[in-house]
Amino acid sequence: MRLAVGTLGVLLVVVGACQLLWPERLAVNVPIGSMLFGSGGKAPAQELIRGRMRVPEGFTVGIYAEGIKNARLLRFTATGDLLVSQPRQSRVLLLERDADGDGRADGRRSLLEDLNRPHGMDFRDGWLYVAETDAVGRIRFDAQTREVRGEFERVVTGIPGGSNHWTRSVRFGPDGWMYVSVGSSCNVCIEEDERRAAILRYRPDGSGEEIYARGLRNPVSFDWQPGTGDLYATDNGRDLLGNDVPPCELNRVVQGGDYGWPYAYGDRIPDPSYGAGEEARVAASIPPAFPFRAHNSPLGIAFVRSTDVPADYRGAALVALHGSWNRTRKDGYKVVSLHWDENGEITERDFLSGFLLDEDVIGRPVDVAEGPDGAFYISDDHAGVIWRVAYGGAPADAARFALPARKEIGDDLAALSRQERIERSARGEELYRRAACATCHEPERAEAGAVIVPLEDLALRYDVAGLDAFLVAPTPPMPAFPFDREERRDIAVYLLQTR
Ligand code: HEC
Repeated sequence: MRLAVGTLGVLLVVVGACQLLWPERLAVNVPIGSMLFGSGGKAPAQELIRGRMRVPEGFTVGIYAEGIKNARLLRFTATGDLLVSQPRQSRVLLLERDADGDGRADGRRSLLEDLNRPHGMDFRDGWLYVAETDAVGRIRFDAQTREVRGEFERVVTGIPGGSNHWTRSVRFGPDGWMYVSVGSSCNVCIEEDERRAAILRYRPDGSGEEIYARGLRNPVSFDWQPGTGDLYATDNGRDLLGNDVPPCELNRVVQGGDYGWPYAYGDRIPDPSYGAGEEARVAASIPPAFPFRAHNSPLGIAFVRSTDVPADYRGAALVALHGSWNRTRKDGYKVVSLHWDENGEITERDFLSGFLLDEDVIGRPVDVAEGPDGAFYISDDHAGVIWRVAYGGAPADAARFALPARKEIGDDLAALSRQERIERSARGEELYRRAACATCHEPERAEAGAVIVPLEDLALRYDVAGLDAFLVAPTPPMPAFPFDREERRDIAVYLLQTR
């Protein structure tokens, strides 16, 4: 213990000296606990939260769960439980949904153990996929019973892992491909494995690896913009160039795009270490869609899908800024909202702040996820908590959290007579066949090379009216079909009874 205190003391002196004597570009200024141990794991007291934490007008903030060391990425299950990855604990934790509506998770259980630094998670076709530092694996998951079944099988192995940026994220795109982000092995260098500093993609079975986009130093999180289907990824700019350069980035990621690292940063600015003699590469690099302030470390990004928020938050993106270490004065340490105007210009506003006050840090946000209740959940690997930010004062809307259980499926289906269900379902099946829906939705009917999006558990998320509304305006890249209302309802009845 004395040794630990002594070491800490020396470190504090060194860190202090850094700020006085060292050149600004070598500045180290980070909450010491989280630098040494990865996570403080202490939730701030209520008074501190009331006194310091700030949210936009009309929103409220509280703690949904605490005591979760190194809480990193988040993913909601189909029944409203929240998965939290804890890479340093080798674990994926399940927080049970807030069915009693008190604004806190009802319980927790360890879902997966002994993984190799599990980080990103997503669901597909009855599987829970988890990205480890050098692999992506999957295991059967039943959202109703909250249980995994069978073995964790690795569908991708040999992804370059470890070293500097070792977290891996995995998400399924609207096109059905599995996207995996891989950070660089270093601050700035020429990589030996070109899959580093890139977003890769695979078929759901792990085959067909391709580099989707490159030159992304550490794209920790990404999400597809509703409406456009565009892929946006956060990216952390390099260190050791000074307090205010280079910007961290939000990139609109296109297939084959090169975003510059290590040759360029920001808007095609040559990197002092590797830019010289690489003019063509620098010029061809894609500038960020939005530059964050230097060293702010944008990690999690989630587009707002809820419509239960003020108009200017609809379609906004929430981004967790983990906060600086390579800066004389700390910066970042908050969740911001990004707002697109009609010309596509993006502006940034504070969404959840107060983690940082006068150089004192009580939390570091990592990921953002929108819950089935329309509230926003934010992981914090410094305080070891999950924050919950909701619009409208009520702590939680229990009714919305309690997702329809299977037996309550499709209430409006139950309202139809048996005869009508049979007739509609038969017409719906015929329409489904004629419109060749199967080419994108049935694995066995997909055309060679096409990636399919299985239709599953629809009744957990849609009723007849909901599917009708979806078919009027499907999410791209799904095409819209010229069905009339009765035809859409026929298809809805067919799908809800069979998927
Ligand atoms: C060209 C490929 C394509 C065709 C053809 C297609 N879809 Fe889709 N569909 C998609 C994609 C991609 C998605 C996922 C969009 C997203 O990200 O939400 C989707 C999503 C859906 C969903 C929502 C699934 C969910 O889990 O929320 C339904 C329902 C659906 N499609 C029904 C149909 C029906 C019915 C037809 C035929 C009339 C059809 N689709 C034809 C590509 C297609």
